[in-house]
Amino acid sequence: MLNFEGLGQGLAQAVATPPTPATPPVPVINAGAGYTGAEVIGMDSHRITVDEKAIINCRADLNQLVPFKYDWAWQKYLDACANHWMPQEISMSRDIALWKDPNGLTEDERRIIKRNLGFFSTADSLVANNLVLAIYRHITNPECRQYLLRQAFEEALHTHAYQYVVESLGLDEGEIFNMYREIPGIHAKNAFEMQFTTELADPNFKTGTFATDQRLLRNLIGFYVIMEGIFFYVGFVQMLSFGRQNKMTGASEEFQYILRDESMHLNFGIDVINQIKAENPHLWTTEFQQEMVDLIKQGVDLEYKYAEDTMPRGVLGLNVNMFHDYLRFVANRRCKQIGLPEQYAGAKNPFPWMSEMLDLKKEKNFFETRVIDYQVGGALSWD
Ligand SMILES: [Fe+2]
Ligand SMILES: [Fe+2]
Repeated sequence: MLNFEGLGQGLAQAVATPPTPATPPVPVINAGAGYTGAEVIGMDSHRITVDEKAIINCRADLNQLVPFKYDWAWQKYLDACANHWMPQEISMSRDIALWKDPNGLTEDERRIIKRNLGFFSTADSLVANNLVLAIYRHITNPECRQYLLRQAFEEALHTHAYQYVVESLGLDEGEIFNMYREIPGIHAKNAFEMQFTTELADPNFKTGTFATDQRLLRNLIGFYVIMEGIFFYVGFVQMLSFGRQNKMTGASEEFQYILRDESMHLNFGIDVINQIKAENPHLWTTEFQQEMVDLIKQGVDLEYKYAEDTMPRGVLGLNVNMFHDYLRFVANRRCKQIGLPEQYAGAKNPFPWMSEMLDLKKEKNFFETRVIDYQVGGALSWD
């Protein structure tokens, strides 16, 4: 039996002598930096105008969504909501039968599936953590934040999707979820990314200076352009190649939905980067551009090593030389998208079918494995 007597007496005393409420501290904003949205709200008849809004270092109220300044950000939020999906809508029954059949898949095919689940199952957590812990407070615009919140939820769905595949196939969860610190090629990609998160997640980090505004841009390029724009692409090609051969169609379809989301994340990130550049052209120095080119090239090298590790031999009609070309083609495209010179002259795309994979329509699924099984109302109890 719990004894509530003491608690009751304490409560009575507290009611008899209510504590004097402390005056909330007035937040001090440093000279260059903007608001974060966590400041005390004062009474004020001044209404926000579009011209006062800024993508970083904004000194106007961040709690008002409208008037919109960045229509592209709001439109991407609407588009993302229109593409909503849930991992368990996709049936894994054929995948389970194939995985359990001792002759269903080769050892090389199984390695590709496990390595990709190992990489992606933690990579999406890293992306979500970077959004929430590192960049959110520095992007000082409500319509962009609306998209960031949606993206953060989608990253949670992606982690959910990988967990759903791991669980459906009966894989060793410990093996898969620890690959990011046990398999060198996966660890190297994640360690490369974590340098960006650690720096901006420091509570003492503030934008508003030339140096720190560049560090924010560096983080955005590190995550949107390199993590989501390069590090995901060997795995996407490999996993979608299974579906194209009518194998592991459920897992492949999960990755197809995820690819569609990720390409939107990438496009949003590119718009944010270009908007910051447009509003702060002094940040985009020749030295900084070279530093970003070097990071992107490091990213290409890390992803190529990942391709070699996941696929020591040719399989599924793929071989590692194709990824050599593909990653250079992708990196050229990423450079161009943020206004950097292309780095790999003449790189060709060996996988032109990848662009078709983005055209997935929710009502008409590509591999026809989808089942609709929402549990929205039935899972709740009201008594
Ligand atoms: Fe994701
Ligand atoms: Fe993403």
